Amino acid sequence: MDIKSHIKSDIPLYEVYEKVKSLVPLEEWFISAEYIEEINRLKREKGAVILAHNYQTPDIFHGVADIVGDSLALAQKAKESDADIIVLCGVHFMAETAKIVNPSKKVLIPDLEAGCSLASSITAQDVRKLREKYPGVPIVAYVNTTAEVKAEVDICCTSANAVKVVESLGSDRVIFLPDKYLGKWVARQTGVEIILWDGTCEVHEKFTAEELKCMKSQFPDLYTLAHPECAPEVLELADFVGSTSGMIRHLSQVNKRRVALITECSMGDNVMAYHPDKEFIRTCNMCPHMKKITLQKIVLSLKKEQFEVKIDENTASKAREAIERMLKIGRS
Ligand code: 13P
Ligand code: SF4
Repeated sequence: MDIKSHIKSDIPLYEVYEKVKSLVPLEEWFISAEYIEEINRLKREKGAVILAHNYQTPDIFHGVADIVGDSLALAQKAKESDADIIVLCGVHFMAETAKIVNPSKKVLIPDLEAGCSLASSITAQDVRKLREKYPGVPIVAYVNTTAEVKAEVDICCTSANAVKVVESLGSDRVIFLPDKYLGKWVARQTGVEIILWDGTCEVHEKFTAEELKCMKSQFPDLYTLAHPECAPEVLELADFVGSTSGMIRHLSQVNKRRVALITECSMGDNVMAYHPDKEFIRTCNMCPHMKKITLQKIVLSLKKEQFEVKIDENTASKAREAIERMLKIGRS
């Protein structure tokens, strides 16, 4: 697919404003609008495309992103892109994945500090030790890992295909890292014995079953959609469990008026614009890493072509194998 044809450089500002006006005060909007115009001009000038994760703020999501999606969609679209520059508005592992699947492109991330508690919970050395401890047991890495970790594993997965990836291995026992909650959820869905790593998402682990029970008792018709990085007792209470894009798709398919997204707070802000008929009960746990990306930093990123993601070719080629195996499997 030709991603250049997807560059939304000429999206009228009033259309963006319509989508964000309930969230962005007017005085703030005037500043954002200037940045949005500048970013869209720079994108055209440099032949750049912006890929943004569903957790980016509404000004980025609706204003400057050419492609939005979950981790799987961003990896798929990065691979297909024929743009000269890919600006990844998300966290570092997502930018690394984009570089690995499309190595000839310049991949930029507007802030190098945009990390992830899961990615920093495990090292390549830890994976090598697991391999020694459990010889012959296949290792699945969630994409929320560094390139060095991906280079040591058999296959990657995202929350959109973890079940399908584990099932594809045809093994009774699988090492799944680093998210213990996603691993437990996969074990329940597949019946496969999963050896877990003790990693968690610092955002999703904050949601509690008590909080959900309280929301449900206050709003008995509330329909809840949760990300599988939440704890098992939270997922047990949710009406739907899925990746960020899985939740967005499901929202359009179910006829529910009052909903709550048990995930990072910008998701709700972003999708509210598509569902003016629904009432969103807001749950707010914010990812500080995703929020490091701002319009101002995107302007600088495009102007100075910073910060370029670089991975040594030996690591990248091994990590590529694990990612490509996952991409062949696609979405669950
Ligand atoms: P998705 O792959 O569902 O977009 O999730 C990525 C992530 O970091 C969730 O916290
Ligand atoms: Fe990582 Fe959690 Fe932030 Fe997703 S929400 S990027 S898993 S810290």
